[in-house]
Amino acid sequence: MAGEPATSLKPDTGSGLRIPLHLGVIMDGNGRWAKMRGKRRTEGHVEGVKTLRNLVELCINYGVGTLTVFSFSSENWTRPPDEISFIFNLLRRFVASDLQRLIRNNVRVRIIGTRRGLEPSLVRLIDDAEAKTAHNTGLNLVVAFNYGSKAEIAEAARHLAREVAAGRLSPEAIDEAAIGNALFTAGLPIPI
Ligand code: FPP
Repeated sequence: MAGEPATSLKPDTGSGLRIPLHLGVIMDGNGRWAKMRGKRRTEGHVEGVKTLRNLVELCINYGVGTLTVFSFSSENWTRPPDEISFIFNLLRRFVASDLQRLIRNNVRVRIIGTRRGLEPSLVRLIDDAEAKTAHNTGLNLVVAFNYGSKAEIAEAARHLAREVAAGRLSPEAIDEAAIGNALFTAGLPIPI
């Protein structure tokens, strides 16, 4: 797209390694991983969080700019309630147990996706993780949770409509950049 970087890789500083500015990962295959080993699906999710921890550490060590992990999508609400509450508890436990370590490592945490439908105590927890790491300048860890691309577009449209209604934005000024700035991913380079 015009005006956007042709590559999402950091320039080679002589090491021969091309480090991504923004790495996107879908946390998929947890259930299959567990099934292949004769384990319960939930054990696959526990293993997925361990892999996420390792990946965060690798990204910090290699200087990746942003790591976005797609964890729970809006479509995942069709899963059995027990599995959903297990996944939600894993997110709670991850924030509770890893936040101090993330702060020490200068990681900025952002949880993208709609807060609607989440329990107020979980919303408080993730808001708190974002607030406590907002000024960190190292790895951007973006967790897409309760995320859906159409919901993201709807939320951006609502925001732009409110700006127009308030007289702060003219409809003609809604271009690709205005939409990009209204998305959860505003300011982040394109992931690879
Ligand atoms: C996809 O695997 C995985 C999920 C729907 C849930 C992943 C979320 C977590 C493990 C918890 C989130 C916590 C943090 C810290 C981000 P799948 O069940 O679809 O696997 P399958 O495709 O093999 O069935």
